[in-house]
Amino acid sequence: MKAAVLIRFGNAQNAFELRELPELPCKPDEVRINVATFGLNFADVVARLGQYKDCPPLPAVIGYEAVGQVLETGALVTHVKPGQRVLAFTRFGGYATQIVTDARAVVPLPDFIPDAEATALATQYCTAYFSACMAINLWPGDHVLIQAAAGGVGIALTQIAKNAGCTVYGTAGSDAKLETIRKNGVDVPINYNTQNFAGVIEKTAPNGKIDVIFDSIGGQSVRQGMKLLNAGGRMVCFGAADMSGVGKLQVALKALQFGFYHPVQFMLRSASLTGVSMLRIAEDKPNILQHCLQEVVQKAAEGQFKPKVHGVYPIHQLWQAHETLQHRGTIGKVAIQW
Ligand SMILES: NC(=O)c1ccc[n+]([C@@H]2O[C@H](COP(=O)([O-])OP(=O)(O)OC[C@H]3O[C@@H](n4cnc5c(N)ncnc54)[C@H](OP(=O)(O)O)[C@@H]3O)[C@@H](O)[C@H]2O)c1
Repeated sequence: MKAAVLIRFGNAQNAFELRELPELPCKPDEVRINVATFGLNFADVVARLGQYKDCPPLPAVIGYEAVGQVLETGALVTHVKPGQRVLAFTRFGGYATQIVTDARAVVPLPDFIPDAEATALATQYCTAYFSACMAINLWPGDHVLIQAAAGGVGIALTQIAKNAGCTVYGTAGSDAKLETIRKNGVDVPINYNTQNFAGVIEKTAPNGKIDVIFDSIGGQSVRQGMKLLNAGGRMVCFGAADMSGVGKLQVALKALQFGFYHPVQFMLRSASLTGVSMLRIAEDKPNILQHCLQEVVQKAAEGQFKPKVHGVYPIHQLWQAHETLQHRGTIGKVAIQW
């Protein structure tokens, strides 16, 4: 099989090499898939920059998701069959023509969902679904702030919050992105490069407070957000984009900027702060991952979820795709075709 192997940290142009690798064994509870398309995630950029502590040692095949056809199933696998088109979540290994993954990370995929849209469902929509429907609840009438609402997870969270009857405040970094998030359902788009998001919410939201915040930025954004939470408020942290691509000292400073919290503060305000890592869920709670995958594919098939695709790149343009993702040039999913 072929793989785009991460051979050195740093610039995308020199980071990957196409290599022939031996096939992996398929255990009784696993599925081997012939990959047509795989997805990129922001975490891949962080891994390529050498800042992702879970990344395997180099040379490594990274990548969290793929769409393809089942080649082989282990003896214990019953819900998918050879020849079937599937979507799979992978714990790394996704940048390859073949993947082998836990059967609970694989779901059948209806033919009418295109490959690139499907790749958005695995990591981005499952993270959004777990964050908004399992880690917490959203109630009709809730006022919800989604940071980085033009990112893949932000787009998914917006659709979930609007379907739940919430009023959505969304941040993004350019006017073009604001237009996209407005079309995706954001009621109050905020350009966080030109406006102070906390100031806008204080002026616009009832009592100047918000019920739910989804934060993937980290640092000060979390500390400012905590001050905006209503009684009964929920903050879900699932990323720290602000800590990517900076030196160790800045990482340490930004870590301090999150703020320090005591349980009594949460009790007195009836507030909560929750963290989400879909990779941890996939590793330690694969049945929950299977549930999320089934739900997001079902909701995409019904038209409730509409993944947005930024672009589909051929494999030899992997590095350009990585650069665009790193420099905030994407709106929605970036997929790579073999
Ligand atoms: N915990 C989990 O399981 C999990 C799963 C998936 C993703 N994530 C995390 O969630 C975040 C969003 O993921 P995604 O897939 O939606 O990513 P994405 O589609 O690449 O969107 C990320 C967006 O974040 C914004 N951003 C804000 N600060 C940034 C910074 N310092 N550097 C780069 N971008 C910055 C940019 O939009 P603007 O130009 O509008 O600022 C960028 O386009 C990432 O941090 C990712 O690692 C976590």
